[in-house]
Amino acid sequence: MSNPQENQFTNLEEWVTSWEKGQTGFHEAKGSKLLQINIDKVLAGRTGVKFFFPLCGKAVDMKWLADMGHTVVGVEISEKAIREYSGIFPFL
Ligand SMILES: C[S@@+](CC[C@H](N)C(=O)[O-])C[C@H]1O[C@@H](n2cnc3c(N)ncnc32)[C@H](O)[C@@H]1O
Repeated sequence: MSNPQENQFTNLEEWVTSWEKGQTGFHEAKGSKLLQINIDKVLAGRTGVKFFFPLCGKAVDMKWLADMGHTVVGVEISEKAIREYSGIFPFL
């Protein structure tokens, strides 16, 4: 029987190493298409929504939502990813 997680990241060290090596093919530079398509449903007319992004990486969606006036909190294990994100969006 094959391992369903074969060829996938399985632990924190691998994620951190991946960021350190710049192997970040998982990063969505244009943001989440799914979120963009469904943003009206997600917001349902609300303003000032609090969004939580676990495993956020450098999700540009956080900046997009913050620019709309929402509050965003992200959690990311890689310090490098966080520093790079802060370099791009220093005011978040
Ligand atoms: C699929 S990537 C997210 C990519 C993000 N959407 C982007 O566009 O950059 C998942 C992220 O979760 C982080 N991660 C994985 N496990 C974690 C954990 N237990 N706690 C915090 N961050 C974690 C990884 O370092 C990685 O950046």
